[in-house]
Amino acid sequence: MTPVKKNISLSLIVIIFSFLLGCSHRMLTVFFDGVPEKNDSVKMVAKQTGNKSDSALLNELAANTAASKHPAHPPFALKKCGVCHDPNRPGNMIEPQPGLCYQCHDAYDGKFEHGPVVSGNCTKCHSPHNSENPKLLLRTGQALCFTCHESDRILATPEHEKIGESPCTTCHNPHGGNKRYFLN
Ligand code: HEC
Ligand code: HEC
Ligand code: HEC
Ligand code: HEC
Ligand code: HEC
Repeated sequence: MTPVKKNISLSLIVIIFSFLLGCSHRMLTVFFDGVPEKNDSVKMVAKQTGNKSDSALLNELAANTAASKHPAHPPFALKKCGVCHDPNRPGNMIEPQPGLCYQCHDAYDGKFEHGPVVSGNCTKCHSPHNSENPKLLLRTGQALCFTCHESDRILATPEHEKIGESPCTTCHNPHGGNKRYFLN
């Protein structure tokens, strides 16, 4: 097999294996009557999956949060792959973004919305699983914005000439807002 094909097969195996785990997980589930110390993340995931999380998964999430500076996305850490992936069609999502993400997150609906937010490209900036960077970001600082915006053009305009290394988000909200150009 070519490395690429091998990678795809590995990914499929990972997906299928997790769905199998997901099914047997029902049997493992110990129902909680109240999660110790209000855990909003767990509640959010539990609400979405229609059942409460079992103690093993809760411990795993707690360990993940304690061990990592930038914890994994809770539905991923809790192995709730099925809140996003369609178990019948591995590789496909149960619905397109941004609806996929708005199952749990409040919709961004400012007067001016950023292009990739409207078009459902949340994962052009965020990993849905985990990241070395804060907020599950794929890149940090100006590099995140220069994935799509042309650096030469932006940095040459009068309002940007003197920004140096400041992250674009010092002045712009990455999702949108009520001011033109989503200025803070
Ligand atoms: C919050 C939604 C969400 C959850 C939960 C989630 N995924 Fe994903 N996953 C995605 C999206 C969206 C993509 C497509 C990535 C992209 O757009 O770049 C993806 C891509 C993948 C891929 C393709 C390779 C890659 O990393 O891009 C694999 C494999 C995968 N997911 C496995 C899993 C497994 C296993 C779980 C559960 C442990 C899981 N995912 C949980 C949303 C999710
Ligand atoms: C099943 C519920 C669920 C879905 C679906 C979901 N999330 Fe989340 N997400 C959470 C929870 C719970 C948290 C942690 C609590 C919080 O920060 O609000 C979180 C946190 C985040 C964070 C902040 C991480 C941090 O370190 O502060 C980002 C970014 C994020 N999610 C992006 C996404 C994107 C993008 C999608 C769609 C691809 C998505 N989420 C879909 C439940 C979900
Ligand atoms: C252009 C890149 C970009 C896109 C596209 C994007 N985000 Fe973000 N997002 C960011 C950045 C940057 C932050 C961190 C903001 C900060 O720390 O001030 C963030 C933060 C977040 C957070 C943490 C809480 C908050 O609001 O600060 C969540 C949740 C989130 N994004 C979800 C989403 C979802 C859902 C989508 C798609 C509808 C999306 N993002 C699209 C760049 C993006
Ligand atoms: C995934 C691609 C992508 C990324 C990453 C991205 N943008 Fe955008 N951005 C767009 C698109 C598409 C538009 C809408 C097209 C347009 O108006 O030029 C847009 C529009 C804008 C606008 C409004 C422009 C106008 O003329 O109204 C601003 C401001 C902006 N982006 C800032 C940012 C900042 C700041 C970041 C980093 C946090 C960023 N963008 C990252 C794709 C992206
Ligand atoms: C010091 C604050 C500041 C920083 C930092 C900043 N901007 Fe801006 N940006 C502005 C202002 C102010 C405007 C509005 C100019 C106007 O009203 O015409 C603007 C406008 C824009 C526009 C729309 C006009 C155009 O030229 O297309 C885009 C896109 C944009 N900024 C992207 C970025 C990106 C990408 C970064 C990071 C490299 C960034 N900005 C960093 C203040 C800032």
